[in-house]
Amino acid sequence: MKYSALRIQLTPERKRNLITLVVGLAISWALASLMACASPTKTGGATALYQQLGGVQGITAITDRTMDRVSTDPRTQRSFANVKMKALKESVATYVCKVADGPCVYEGETMRNSHADLGITGAEFDLMVEILRDEINRAKAPTGAKNELLKRLAPTRRDIVKRS
Ligand code: HEM
Repeated sequence: MKYSALRIQLTPERKRNLITLVVGLAISWALASLMACASPTKTGGATALYQQLGGVQGITAITDRTMDRVSTDPRTQRSFANVKMKALKESVATYVCKVADGPCVYEGETMRNSHADLGITGAEFDLMVEILRDEINRAKAPTGAKNELLKRLAPTRRDIVKRS
């Protein structure tokens, strides 16, 4: 078969259609690439935990509500009597953001040092975790993200709880 027999004869209109199709595909590809860049940060193929929790804003909303509730609940409020709540809320939000691999720089005390003189009980700690779980649910974060954050915070129990 001769080469010329393989050539597809295109009318000017078909040529235009073909060019439109190729240009369209190129634009779609470029847009898709741009959107991929703008999408949440990926870590090892999975969306970073802090992004799943709503980023810095989402985490701050969750921890602010948690601290509001823990500091006013009759079962836990005693520890917060003389504490400047605005600064504490900022510190807790930054800490949790950092634990969730967020871009926050936590410069506060260790969990052991900051809770050393508070005599926090196991029941108080567990209540705070329950409230945190409830606030993550309210924020409609994915179940996997909620469980992962709580799993990462769980080891702090042994540094924070001083009484059974
Ligand atoms: C997962 C559990 C908890 C986390 C992640 C956490 C986190 C923190 C952080 C980041 C700070 C600030 C440290 C600093 O800025 O140097 C802090 C301080 C504090 N936490 Fe917790 N905390 C937890 C549990 C609790 C519980 C259960 C209570 C009491 C019921 C509590 C009461 C306090 C108080 C009163 C302070 C302020 C201490 C002070 O200013 O002297 N925390 N916590």
